Order: sequence, then C-alpha cells, then structure tokens
Amino acid sequence: MNEAVNKAWGELAALPRPRLAELFAADANRLASLSNRLDIPGGSILFDWSKTHLDAAHIGLFEQLAWACDFAGKRAALLSGEKVNVTEQRAAEHTAQRGTGAPESVALAQAFHARMHMLVDAIHRGLLGEIKHLIHIGIGGSALGPALAIDALARDGALVDVHVVSNIDGCALEAAFERCDPAKTLIAVASKTFTTIETMTNAKSALDWLAEGGVADSFGRVIALTASPDKAVEWGVDETRVLPFSESVGGRYSLWSSIGFPVALALGWAEFAELLEGAEVMDKHFAGTDGAANLALRAAFADQLYTRLRGCQTRASFAYDERLKLLPSYLQQLEMESNGKSVTADGQPVSGPTAPITWGGVGTDAQHAVFQLLHQGTNIVPVDFIAAIAPGDDLDPAHHRILLMNCFAQGAALMAGKQSDDPARAYPGDRPSATILLDELTPAALGAVIAFHEHRTFANAVLMGINPFDQFGVELGKQIANAIDAGGVSFDASTDALLKAAGLA
Ligand code: F6P
Repeated sequence: MNEAVNKAWGELAALPRPRLAELFAADANRLASLSNRLDIPGGSILFDWSKTHLDAAHIGLFEQLAWACDFAGKRAALLSGEKVNVTEQRAAEHTAQRGTGAPESVALAQAFHARMHMLVDAIHRGLLGEIKHLIHIGIGGSALGPALAIDALARDGALVDVHVVSNIDGCALEAAFERCDPAKTLIAVASKTFTTIETMTNAKSALDWLAEGGVADSFGRVIALTASPDKAVEWGVDETRVLPFSESVGGRYSLWSSIGFPVALALGWAEFAELLEGAEVMDKHFAGTDGAANLALRAAFADQLYTRLRGCQTRASFAYDERLKLLPSYLQQLEMESNGKSVTADGQPVSGPTAPITWGGVGTDAQHAVFQLLHQGTNIVPVDFIAAIAPGDDLDPAHHRILLMNCFAQGAALMAGKQSDDPARAYPGDRPSATILLDELTPAALGAVIAFHEHRTFANAVLMGINPFDQFGVELGKQIANAIDAGGVSFDASTDALLKAAGLA
C-alpha cells in the first residue's frame, strides 16, 4: 500500500464520530449535499445518503484516498477497455454493451445486439412457429439478471412467458416443465463458458423433455447465449441460433449482453433498449463526475466507512417494492463474488476487511422478521432502502401509501432511536441507512439502479486495491465435486462418511 493510502486511512480512523442527529444539526446544507437526483429517460432517481455518517471531514479524506488509489486512472482504464482484470488479463467491458467503452468493443456489442434484435423480432413475428414459453437455463450471472428484470418489469404481462431455471435440483426444471407446452416452448441455454455442469445438465434434460413431448427437431428449439459460440455449436446448437457476447463481459455483469435475450423476448426490444439507456445514463454520470458528487463513489465512501472503520460485517438492501424482490440476491452475487477477496490486485494480503456479507429482503415483510436485530441488535447493519413513488398495483392507493410510509419510517427510526427507562424498550438509534427513491420503476430506472451498483462495487474495489473481476474462489468446490464424480478419491472422514451415507461412494 502506498504512503498516501496509509495516511488517508490513518486520518480517517482518527476522525471524531458524531451521531447522525448531530451531523444534521451541525450542517444546514447536509440534505442538499448528500441527497441528489439523477435524471434518467422519463423521470429521475433520488439517491439519499444523508442518513450515513459521511460528513465533510470524511468526504475530504475519502477523496484523498480515492486520489491516492488512482480512482480516476482506474475508472478511465475500465471505461476504455484496458485489461483491468489483471489476474485473467482481460478487460471488463460491460459498459461497452451500453455504449461507453473502446470504440471497437462498442461496435461489436452493437453488432451482437443487432443479431439478437433480429431473432427476438423473428420470434415475436411467429417465424419460429407459435412460441408461448421460454425456459431460460443458466446459473449465477447467467440467470440472476434476467430473473430480476423480468420479475420487475413484466408483471403486467409478457410477450413470451419466461421461466428462469438455474438450480441443478431437478425439482426446479420440473416446475418449469409443468407450466409449459413443449410444442410452444423455446429453450435458451445461457452460459458464458458453455461448460457449467448445472446448466449443461439442465439443458440436456430440457432437450429430452421436448423430444418426449413430440418435438421432432429439439435442437431447432434451442438458442444459445454465450461467449463460447464454438462450444455451443459443437454441443449441437444451430449456428444461426447462437447469440454471442464478448469474453470481456463478466458473468455477473452480463445482463446487458445476449444474456438479456429473455428480457427482450418478454418485454419487447424497445424496453430492453430502455434498460440499456438507463444504465448508460449512470455510466455517463460515473465517468464524468468527480469526488463525492459521483453517486457510486460516494456510496463506496460510506461502504468503506462502515466495513473498514466501524467493523460492520454485513450490509443489507431492502426493496420496498414487491417487483424488486429479486434485487437483494442479484446484489449478493454482484458484491460478494466481485469483492469477497483476501488479496489485492497484485497478490498481497489485503490490509483490512473486504466486501461485507450482502443480504436483504423485501419490505414490509422483512420488518416483521429481521428488523428487530437492525433496531436493537448488537450488529450495526448499514441498510439501503429502495422504493418507487408510483405504485406498481391498481388497488386502493392505501397499499402503496402504507408501503412508502413504512419505508421512510424505518430509516427515521433507525436514525432517531428512542430512549426508555426500560432497557428492553430502548432503541439506541444512530443506525445508518441510505435510500434510493425512483419516480417510477421503469426499464430505464432499473438499468440505472443496476449500473449504479456495478460502479459502486468497482469503486469499493479500487478503494480496497482489489480486482473485482475474477472469482477463483468458486473453483475449488467444483473441482472436488468433479473428483467425487470421477470416484476413487478419499477426502476427510466427515466427507467420506456423508458420501457413503448418500450412496455416492
Ligand atoms: O461459478 C461461478 C460462475 O462462474 C459465475 O461467475 C457465473 O455467473 C456462473 O458461474 C455461471 O457461469 P456460466 O455463465 O459460464 O455458465
């Protein structure tokens, strides 16, 4: 770690720790400086970070830290397609999918999008026969984004009914089969590598199901979404049904590529394009805004404040919107797979904690289940709330009013706390939260929110000096599963006994 980085962390650690209420009392401008609106196509999003412990002193030092970590240089490297994923010697070009990046990468992304657009239109026009269902098979980054976007945006009816299946547990695939007619079903096999055992096993079973259901040319119903087109063709997918994307798009950053095919099929191309536009607005803000005015960098300052300076081991995100109930699991992969590391980008042990455990849920459900700990537990959990001003339902407006009132009440209660002579009934307060408030949950808003979290994750990685774009930690378990499959290998006594008990050894 360079000297300037050490110095900034040292000075940050030595800062006084006023309570949130004191911070508001001391600075009449606090709300204006820490609660800001970003305009997006068709509306705006409010990012309110005023109920965090960031103050002018923290921000000044975090800005020095960002400078010492060469945040601007690393951001430029990311956005110009340099090989920022140093351990795998690859670029991380998800923003090129949205129009920001090396010109040749943007052009390639546009060409791949044009190919996908044509196929989506052909299906909508009935050129592949009557298609009512799509079973989208993929896992991790090849499933979580499409599942989130479709659940969030296609509730009023989808052009094609999509079932996302990720788990190898056959119960997941069977549940999709039960809801689909094989004569009217397409299968999307979504895998960056086209080798993932869960996806390939599910895909094979889906082909069998089509054949058993009377589909003569089952491969004719398969569309591959992959960065390994040769493998898809080798597996049997017709070349014309392969929708490629670039190797430089990471799995958990791939919603914007052909992995988003089911989103475009369910919503129509125009809405998929709007999702990309919303993300592009956030990219431009991220690329062109310096210091704490940069929303993602400012969020990362608060994240670092809590994980590194205050020892918070988790961070939670609560969607006060049923349509965003899959957002917390999407963010879990994004943050935990990106920043759950113990070494820096150049292989040195990290000097402090890295990604917190990301968790969350949906409001108001979570209030009646886990919020007790948030208000009175011994763990301090920084919380993000996300909500939309416009309701997603057509029922009595009382529903949405109660939903939003509860969302804002929770943030207020966490901050204010409440004194009581009875310790069991006292609330310590001074507990941080941030709120993302959408005018309306549109494709553009969702795109901007996801892109915000991608950039927040990157900004955190820069401040910690780590590479957010590899994920070697997932490999060992896969290797051991393969070794079990191959047989003839002995493990520890416990594992051997479990294998024996289940009849696997
Ligand atoms: O095992 C983790 C992982 O590689 C994720 O990073 C990825 O999103 C997921 O598996 C699926 O990989 P693929 O798209 O190659 O099937």
